[in-house]
Amino acid sequence: MFGLREKSVVGLDIGSSTVKVCELKKKGRGMAVVTGGFEPLPADTVVDGAIMDANSVAEAVNRLYQRLGIKNQRVATAVSGHSVICKKITVPQMTEEDLAESIHWEAEQHIPFDISDVNLDYQVLKSSSATALDVLLVAVKRDKIWNHTQALIQAGKSPAVVDFDAFALQNAYEVNYEPAPSLCVGLLNIGASVMNINIVKNGESLFTRDVSIGGNQYTDVFQKEMNLSFEEAEKVKRAKGTPPVDEKTRRTLIQSVSEVMLLEIHKTFDFFRASPTGEPIQRVYVSGGTVRIEGLIEYLREKLGIPVEELDPFRKISLDESRVDAAKLRDISPAMAVVVGLALRSFD
Ligand SMILES: Nc1ncnc2c1ncn2[C@@H]1O[C@H](COP(=O)(O)OP(=O)(O)OP(=O)(O)O)[C@@H](O)[C@H]1O
Ligand SMILES: [Mg+2]
Repeated sequence: MFGLREKSVVGLDIGSSTVKVCELKKKGRGMAVVTGGFEPLPADTVVDGAIMDANSVAEAVNRLYQRLGIKNQRVATAVSGHSVICKKITVPQMTEEDLAESIHWEAEQHIPFDISDVNLDYQVLKSSSATALDVLLVAVKRDKIWNHTQALIQAGKSPAVVDFDAFALQNAYEVNYEPAPSLCVGLLNIGASVMNINIVKNGESLFTRDVSIGGNQYTDVFQKEMNLSFEEAEKVKRAKGTPPVDEKTRRTLIQSVSEVMLLEIHKTFDFFRASPTGEPIQRVYVSGGTVRIEGLIEYLREKLGIPVEELDPFRKISLDESRVDAAKLRDISPAMAVVVGLALRSFD
């Protein structure tokens, strides 16, 4: 692990509220962040995980590059949402070559898209036995990949890796927490418009799901119920005190959205537990900007009845203070989990 690949990449996470960037370098036996930051995107630039306005994305990427003085044009990015299917399948035991040959046919039975429209990837899982192989299949619609890579190419970047948000998140978790092989953990990334869920154990993903819910739901409720602009509602959500609002109403509204979020998490965890490979989830790590909603972590901890913690993508990765504003990065650390996972693709 941590060996440098031939060419390093810059992690670039195109979210619906911000574009985030992260560059890592080897430092001693570990790693350090040498570039990190974000740039806001105008509303409706990214909708349902699809880039609607490639110009705005390209401009934001280039502003980030310029502001942070990034030279490396090779980037690792990620997609999420409904055009990505991630599924565990079981096939008879066979050689690597036979599997590579038959995987398209196997995938056809399990993927609800035309197989000629998708990019397919797979990984043989450790749970495989002498007679059967457990295989994790990932299929991403080609137009989705095209949609993301085009915006980056427009910005003059070279997309070297197209990952899946949930896997980048897992990468950031594993490097920073080095979990025991027996620990089954639920990873949540709650952004502005999507919540990525990945249930992982022993370095493998057991179940993933993307739910269309996020921080925007809180903002929406404040806008509607308090008759505020988006910007005002964002401030109220973050308890910035402007405009002044009734604290009791604020808390009630936050609670109403947190309940919906909890319901989706419960539904996903229950579905996983009831599946043939299901097992109890022992711990939850939450990332994404929405973690910072006042009381959300405590609420999830109480209702899920298991330890729930904020995921720290800089737990074992240091911040090179001569090159980055460490306080600023720590302030936004939960939102940086996916992009740190992407930057980690520079290393084996
Ligand atoms: N201090 C805070 N309190 C509450 N919410 C916050 C805070 N800081 C950021 N957020 C919210 O976090 C969200 C942004 O998080 P993040 O950067 O993870 O999302 P994104 O990657 O842009 O979006 P997505 O992945 O959903 O497309 C926004 O809804 C923002 O309002
Ligand atoms: Mg995101």
